[in-house]
Amino acid sequence: MKEWTTEERYRVLKDASEIRDLYDRIQASDYRQTYHIQPITGLSSDPNGFIYHKGIWHLYYQWCPWGAVHGLKYWYHTTSKDLLHWQNEGVGIHPDTIYDNKGVHSGSGFSTDEELYLFYTGNHRDENWVRTPYTCLAQLTEDGQLIKQPEPLFGPHPDYTEHQRDPKVVYHEANQTYYILLGAQSKDLKGKVLIYTSKELLQGWTFAGELKVPGYEDLGGMWECPSIARIGDKDILVFSPQYTKLPRRGNSTNHNIYLIGNMDYENLTFHADGEYRHLDYGFDFYAAQFAANVKEEDKAILTAWMGLPDNHYPTEEEDWEGSLVLPRELRIVNDKLYQLPVQQIRELRQEKVDPTGRLPWVAEVQVKHTGGNAQLTLFSKSDGTGGLQLSYDAARKTVTIDRSQMELRFNEAIGEVLEVPLEEDLTDIALYLDRSSVEIFFNKGEATFTTHLYPTEQESSYQASPNLDLEIWMLRSSVTDDFVV
Ligand code: FRU
Repeated sequence: MKEWTTEERYRVLKDASEIRDLYDRIQASDYRQTYHIQPITGLSSDPNGFIYHKGIWHLYYQWCPWGAVHGLKYWYHTTSKDLLHWQNEGVGIHPDTIYDNKGVHSGSGFSTDEELYLFYTGNHRDENWVRTPYTCLAQLTEDGQLIKQPEPLFGPHPDYTEHQRDPKVVYHEANQTYYILLGAQSKDLKGKVLIYTSKELLQGWTFAGELKVPGYEDLGGMWECPSIARIGDKDILVFSPQYTKLPRRGNSTNHNIYLIGNMDYENLTFHADGEYRHLDYGFDFYAAQFAANVKEEDKAILTAWMGLPDNHYPTEEEDWEGSLVLPRELRIVNDKLYQLPVQQIRELRQEKVDPTGRLPWVAEVQVKHTGGNAQLTLFSKSDGTGGLQLSYDAARKTVTIDRSQMELRFNEAIGEVLEVPLEEDLTDIALYLDRSSVEIFFNKGEATFTTHLYPTEQESSYQASPNLDLEIWMLRSSVTDDFVV
């Protein structure tokens, strides 16, 4: 693995030509995806500024151009008309002011229907590498220009550590107030959400207090990327707690969880109806963000980084890694969350694959389960060995997923076997394979599992126990991979 110096990681990109050769080389990779958003070069991580505005979906991501390494972060911009076909738009926000001199970190979008605003974290470091995070604002004009507000909305709160970032902006109609939720860490190293309020979107922001989440005062050492949405008459709070291990997550100390309940904006309290749940039970899912400005009241739309902090992936050797998960529709039915990829994904189906036991690397697999224990192996070798193994234990209503038998192994230390607990008996599984990723949805989305996976030439078979009926479609591509900087 390449060792990066700080200078290399924080090098400023001055001209697109500086990464053209890198892009050409990466295009030749066997592991480029076809219907997932992925970086043209280097590393992509959190989704940012996900919003619907004037007929267009805007989705940015944290981007480090030089290689698969966390360094100077940009917002890279992609757009879509349908949440399925995405095109590259180039850099969305450059780290080019004193307030963001060491990176434009995560944040969200807000549309007034007329104007589109982006709220982000300016990651400032001084010559001694001491960090000061600023909450900053920019406007994306109709003609595609980005205008940064010259001064930040506010700087760090003195009662918390340097970890204060990832503004999520919402407007609460009932008291006609704008709110910013900010991921933070208290001085006794607990994960928190800070709240700032204003009567105006573009100015007047003041600290209102810490979000109270009764029962969750002690979960993890930092809460990254808080996001909130209303689905029907419930609020759903999503965040990424760090620096702690949680049940069902192997040795990982980075998680993405949700609470369903009610947000009391007056008293800055989120009342959860029940226990937290993992947004996704897989290895590679983090920093999820809701799309802003979704007009339908019965659903929310969310995407996430397919990857985790502190983890390493085989394509690092090729100087790129990371992608975003398929945008998902979230619904709450009988107080339970269901997540499915946006339904437009159906449009990608091409011909159906004959059940010969050969598995395309880019495919949709729909599975019906007729009862009992079951076994599904994907990407096995032609002699049936190896592969990604899914085993369903009907008595425990639990699916165990094991990636340790794949040829290319990675992140072994956090564990290569995880379990997905289901509340209902297993009835169906939908799997979306895209060359180096697998997204799995159980029981019409009552639980999901996302993982990167890097099948080699020999790993292109599958086996299923007789109580599983499979239908497989080839999928066409829907995301451009053009060199736009
Ligand atoms: C989450 C995160 C955010 C931060 C960004 C920096 O992965 O650490 O908290 O804004 O990544 O890239």
